[in-house]
Parts: sequence; structure tokens; C-alpha cells
Amino acid sequence: MLGINKLPYHATLQLPSKWKECKEIVSLDGEWLFHWSPKPENRPVDFYREDYDVSGWDKIAVPGNWQTQGYGTPIYININYPFVRNRPSVTTEPPKDWTAYENRNPVGSYVTFVDVTKEMLAKNLILHFGGVHSAMYLWINGQRVGYSQNSMSPAEFDVTKYMRVGKNKLAVEVYRWCDGSYLEDQDMWRLSGIFREVQLWVRPLVHIADYRVTAVPNADYSQAEVKTVISICNTGKKKATVCPVVMIDGLSADKTELQINAGDTTNYVFHYTLENPRLWSAEKPNLYPFSVELEDNKGNTIEHFDYHFGVKKVECVGEVFKINGKNVKLRGVNRHDHHPRTGRYVDDATYEQDLRLMKQANINFLRTSHYPDREYLYELCDRWGIYVMDEANQESHGYGYANQEMGEDPAWKDAHVDRAESLVKRDYNHPCVILWSLGNEGGVGPNIQAMYDTVVALDSTRLPFYDCHPRYSALHDFGYPTPDVLKTEAEKETEKPLIAREYAHAMGNSMGNFQEYWDVIYADSSIAGAAIWDWVDQGLAKKDKGIEYWAYGGDFGDQPNDGNFNINGLVAPDRKPHPHYYEVQYVYQPLTFKRDNDGTIHIINRDSFTDPSEYDMTCDTVSFGSERLLNVYARLKEDKPWAEKGFVVAREQFVLQPYEYPSLPAKKYGGKAEVTINGNTLSSWIVDGREVLQGPLEPYFWKPENDNQRAAGFARRVAEWKEVKDVTVNYTIINDSSILVEMDYQPTATDRPIIPKVGMRMRLPRDYTHIRYYGRGPWENYPDRKRSAFLSEYEMPLSDYETEYIRPQDNGNRCDIRWFEISPQTSTVGPRLRIAGLQPLCIRAWDYGEEDLDAAPRHPQDLQRGRFVNLNIDLNIHGVGGVDTWGQRTLPQYTINGNQPYHSAFILSFGRRK
Ligand code: GAL
Ligand code: MG
Repeated sequence: MLGINKLPYHATLQLPSKWKECKEIVSLDGEWLFHWSPKPENRPVDFYREDYDVSGWDKIAVPGNWQTQGYGTPIYININYPFVRNRPSVTTEPPKDWTAYENRNPVGSYVTFVDVTKEMLAKNLILHFGGVHSAMYLWINGQRVGYSQNSMSPAEFDVTKYMRVGKNKLAVEVYRWCDGSYLEDQDMWRLSGIFREVQLWVRPLVHIADYRVTAVPNADYSQAEVKTVISICNTGKKKATVCPVVMIDGLSADKTELQINAGDTTNYVFHYTLENPRLWSAEKPNLYPFSVELEDNKGNTIEHFDYHFGVKKVECVGEVFKINGKNVKLRGVNRHDHHPRTGRYVDDATYEQDLRLMKQANINFLRTSHYPDREYLYELCDRWGIYVMDEANQESHGYGYANQEMGEDPAWKDAHVDRAESLVKRDYNHPCVILWSLGNEGGVGPNIQAMYDTVVALDSTRLPFYDCHPRYSALHDFGYPTPDVLKTEAEKETEKPLIAREYAHAMGNSMGNFQEYWDVIYADSSIAGAAIWDWVDQGLAKKDKGIEYWAYGGDFGDQPNDGNFNINGLVAPDRKPHPHYYEVQYVYQPLTFKRDNDGTIHIINRDSFTDPSEYDMTCDTVSFGSERLLNVYARLKEDKPWAEKGFVVAREQFVLQPYEYPSLPAKKYGGKAEVTINGNTLSSWIVDGREVLQGPLEPYFWKPENDNQRAAGFARRVAEWKEVKDVTVNYTIINDSSILVEMDYQPTATDRPIIPKVGMRMRLPRDYTHIRYYGRGPWENYPDRKRSAFLSEYEMPLSDYETEYIRPQDNGNRCDIRWFEISPQTSTVGPRLRIAGLQPLCIRAWDYGEEDLDAAPRHPQDLQRGRFVNLNIDLNIHGVGGVDTWGQRTLPQYTINGNQPYHSAFILSFGRRK
């Protein structure tokens, strides 16, 4: 059963930003009365009755999820179903430790009251639910109205005949799971409730039920044919005469009178030719204001809706994907509709923040993984310019990727089609949509074919997409390739463009080798683009012992769970960008700069509809000691909704004159330095009568894992480096406050595995929390993720030098450091330490040690901080990796071969801070 008494799906009638001012909409959002039952048999069966007393019930916010408001348990699980797989049942007895054992299928019973006037009741009343997870029954004034599932699409009911003048009781019974949940097995928090808007639409008896605008340019783009199809229905008891009016760009087209019999729906088709249309693209999101209106036979406006349309063409020409005739590259990201406090309900301000940050990161393509988002998101993409792959709420991953069980079972055909139809019908009028995705990691077979046929029949102006088989897709998908595999796959596929609907798994400290992907993508016109997995860490705010933190799978006692596998974002749950966000911003930039030997700078334009002259170009020459750098910037010439004039959309740094590293000092010194050296170790150093080392300076090759490395068995593979081998360190006293440190690695065998890092470690007193350095920054960078981090002098507290990952892991490196200073906040505590490389250095600094990370704490608050400051001074460090988090390793060019010698040197000196 997919629905009872549901009205047909239709396009969003009014632009979401104008819902508040729309006369026809009465918002029912707010506090509702609520009762939660862990099992269906415990639910208050009669609660919908008018005589059922709900006055003692709790209050809950609608829209919202009940788990984020204190009822039941959020469950984070990736591939498997959170209940026992036994379709269509969702209540088969699970193992006792599963959350679903006690909470077999929780039920939320919701009640609210609505006042209806006589004038309202003379009209047509439609109750609209933007999204309810997973299934709902509706009663009004004790009478059953209907049922709906398909939780990410609106459900509407004609409630006129159930309403009365005065107070009306609305009762909604929501089930956590239903048979539809077999198609909602996305990798995400499994949350429930009325999580999107609820509206009562008070509509004229004769009204616009739906309208669709298509605006496609002709072959030479000199004209666009604008076609509007308006469905008008007469819900009254009398035949009616109305006149639809279409306004395009402020101009009203001519009017035709229509007669509609009682109970009928008529389609009115209107054609209009636009001369020299301004095209819509993500770069130039030109929109035409558009409105549809109904007038009665006396010329009075009965209703009026505002929208917009964009003129564009999306096509595959052979193996080339084109928008408006150009081989556009989709610089994409996947995004779950997630908020750390309200779960599946994401408010408008957060949508704006997300899209602002995406535009600022030069992202031009968004996949609404893995279901339709709220309508406002699409409006923003229309206005600000983002190409959208709009995805149907269809995933049956628990049966396997490309499974036949769900793809072929005829009993599940309608449920699949329902999800395709609701997708296209709601979002049809958004110019931002370029691709309709049939879902993610679902079935293959006739049910998917039926989805495909539905999409293609509903819309010929956008292209269908599916990940599980190219048969159902205009583009061939290849997920999570390495850059090399992407290259060979693109060369193999010659029929269709290739896209990586997901790549660059951004889990934890990740996003290495990102430029390598784009070197491949830009070089091959058959690659349409790729979308990062994913935008935002799906952490939920949770408080334990007064400390708030970002919870992931298992933190709510949820079983089974997939731990921190939902923490894969470019931004944190509160939308704070991670260091790797900036690497995306840089690699995705629309302009690339190259400098010739003679100093000429060439600009390569990656955009299709924008000329580089549309930016302000500025240059700075900066000198740091002997090194001279040229920084080049392309800036916005004017304010945009997502950034102000002057915002840097593209940048590059060139070294005009390289740094002169200090040379080896003459090795003779007669003074006294109070140091103790034992073999390779500097174990004590007294400066001004005070010990400055809290832990010895010694060769140290170990580095804790990050998420990618943990998944690839890094620690096990390179465990032998917990003990340093084949190293000699020479300490030369330069004067009583400076020491030259020279480290030599000379392998004595030929079977050494890769080295986690080549260098040294020391520990300083805990007060050493102030850092200045000259190197790459300001944000964390590693050898395979350092292009966005320009050379400069930076100054910051230790707490900013570290990166606090949601699951603590290796972090905080800076590359190409020329010199580095660390000191206590006040100079009375101890002298400043300066490290000057004789070649570039990689340095990490933390207020905890490797052993603390190796103990695999779940959350930042589990780390014991502040006993000392841990300093790693390295020649090189293993790259973070950036392909996937289920086995792929850091690309070989970013690893450290254990079978060749290394030499590094730096000067350590202690001196007072000025
Ligand atoms: C993909 C899947 C995503 C997510 C990701 C791993 O294959 O489509 O939903 O699970 O893997 O984070
Ligand atoms: Mg999945």
C-alpha cells in the first residue's frame, strides 16, 4: 500500500521563499501534542477520536524528528537494514542486542488543532505534509482521511469534507518503519517523525492543480520555446469559467477563457517564443520571472503564483556531456539533508549557509544524495547557480548493490515508480535540475526500467541517471576510482560520458590526491565530472557529563551501527570547514595560472560561460627573508548572494626567488651548553638554569593512523616502524643555546616497508602553546594535500595548529616549513624554541601524544590533553590518502620508500621572546 486518498503529486506551486506571504497557505508548523510508543502494540490506538484526552501529552516541535527531541534512539547504519530483513515485514524478531528488539517499530502519535472559519470551509482545503518518516495515517475529527509512505516527498490530502467551522482535531500516526523502508536504506541516521513543513492550503474551488514550464533553446540559441502546461481543476459543484494568465518577464500573454465542469481537470497549454534568450547555467543563473494566475469571468484574480524559469539545454553528444552546447565540467559534491540538532529537518538559514560555502568552494554541482531535499534548496540552486542531480528516494542496499530481489519483484514495481514520479513531478520547474537520478545502490531489473520509463516520459529536457547499471542511465557511473582508474575507465567507455557520482571519500583527515583527479578530468572531454562524498559530517549534537560533542554511530547505544562512517564531510556538522574544504576550493577553481620563465602569466579558464576578464586580477609580491613570492588572485568584481565583491575565486602562488636555507655552521664551539646526549637521543637541555625538554629529542618514525589508513590496515603493515632502525643522529653544539641536529637513515636491508614519517620527536613543557612559523598554511596540510596552503608567515595558538577531528586521529601537519617557533604564552615560563630547517620540514604539534591517538579514543573529550606538547619535526610524512575509506592506500608518490637513504638537518635554538 503506497497511499490512501493521496492527491496526485504536482510541482511546487509557489516559490518556497514566498510561502510565508502566500495567502493560500496556513502553516501548521509549531508545537504539536505527542505520544511515543516503542512498539506498535503499545500505541494509543484510539487517540484520533475526538473524545480521547490528549491534554496530558508532551509537546513536540513540528517539523522535527522525534529522536532528536528525546524520544527513542537514533540509529546510524550504512548498508544493512536496522531491522531484520524479511520483506515486507519490519518487525521480525531481531537479535536481543539490536535497538529494534525493544523498539520493534516505534510509533509517534501526533495531535494538533486547527481553527477553520466559514469562509475557509467554503473553499477547497488541502492538507500538505512536506515529509514524514516513514509512514503516516491521518484522521480529522475522528474520521480516517488517508495514508502515505515515501517519506521524502510531499503527501497531500483533500480534507474539505472532514473539516468543520471552529476547532478541528488533526491526528497523525507515524511509524518508524514500514514496507517502504525497504526502499529507504540509505547510509544515514535513521530518524523518524513529521520532519518537514505541514501546511493547510485554502484553495479556491477552481484552482491550479499543477503547472509545468519548459524552456529549451533552439539549435543556434537565438530563440527559446517556452511551453507552459497548466492543469486547472474544478472542485466545486458548478461548471466554471476561468481564464488562466501567464506572465513571463513581466509581460502578460493573451488570455483564453476556459470552461471546466464540476469535478473535472483541464489542461491549458501555452506557448511563447523568447528571442535571444539569456541562458541559465550555474555560472550565469539567469532566471525569467514567471507567474501563473487564474481570473474569474469578471476579470478578478482568483489565485496567483510566482515562480521563475531558466532557459537551458542538457544533452549527451556521443560521449560528451553538454550544457548549453558546452562541455561543462561538473565539480560536484554529494549532500545529505542533515542538521546536527534537528536531524533530517534543515532550516532555510542552514540551506543558505551550505550553498554559500559550496559556491565559495567553486562547487558547481550538487547531488541530493539520496532523496529529494526541501524545496527551498532547489530555489537557491536556481538563483545562485548550482547544477543539481535530483535523486529519487530509492535505495535497497541491504539486498546488495544492483540487487535483483528488489529490482525484479513485481510486487515492488509501483513503489519504485512512485518514488520516480514524486521526484520529477515536484521539482520539474527548477532550472537547476540537470539530471534525474533513479536512486542509489538499489536494484536492477524491470522495476528500475519502469522508473526510467517514468522519468523519461515525464521530462525529455533533463537526463536520467542511475548508478547500478548504465542501461538506465544517460551517463556511465564509476564510483570511487583512483585517478588512474578514472582515466582508463573513461578511455574504455566510448558510448556515453563518464561521471563519478561519488569519489574522494572525505572521511576524517582525507582528500589527498585531489588535484590528480582533476588533471585526469580536464584532460578527457568524455568525463562529465565527479561528486565528492560528501558535504557535511553527519554528527548529531549530544551531551555527556556536561560536554557537548558530535555523536556518531553507537553513541546512542544504537545497535547495529557503523560507527563514524557517517563522518565524511568537507564541513563539520556546524558547517565549520575542515582543512580539506580549502583544497577543494583550490582544485575546483575556475581559473588556473601558469607562469613562464620570462614571467608571463597564462590563465587557463575551466569555466564555459565566463570570461576571465569578468574578474578583478590582483597580484602581491611578498618577501620572507630571502624568499620572494608572487600571489595572484582573481576576485569578484561585484557582490554575489554568496560572497562579497573582492572575494577570491581563484589564486596561485609562484616562487620568484627561492628560500635560502641556513648552511651548515662551522662545527667548532668552545662554550658550555648544558646538554645530555645519549647515542641518538638528546635527553636533557638546560637553558637559563631550566630544563626545556619534557621528553627527549629522538628519531621517531611512527605516526598514528587517520580513517583512510585505519581502513587500509596501515598500522599493521608498518608496525615495525614503532621502533626506529638504521638511523644515526649527530648533535653539534653551535653555541650555548643552539644545536645542529643531523639525521641519517641508511637502510641495512632491502625489505623495509614504507615509513610513516622520517624525522624526530620531542616533548616540551605544556605551556608551549604559541606558534609562529614560515611554511604552508594556515590550515593543516600534508604532502598529498598542500596545494591550497600557500607559503607565508603564520601565527596561531596550538589549539588552532591542531585539527580536532570528530574521531581523533593523526592531524595538524604543515609542510615546507622553513622555520618554526614555539613558545609559552608568557616569556616568564620558558624560552622560545626555534627550529630552522636546512631543507623544508614537516611539523606537527599536539597537546597529547601518539599513544593517546593510538588508543583510539572515540571523541575529542576522551583524549587526555595538556601533559606536554608533542612536537614532530620531519623530513617527510605519509600522505593522508583520498580515494576511499575501505582499503585504498595513499598514492605511491606520497609514501616514503623504506629502502632508500634519507638525510635531514635542522638547527634548534632556544632564546627569549622579544
Ligand atoms: C557510497 C554510498 C554512500 C555512502 C558511501 C560511503 O557507496 O552511495 O551512500 O555509503 O558509499 O560513505
Ligand atoms: Mg548505501
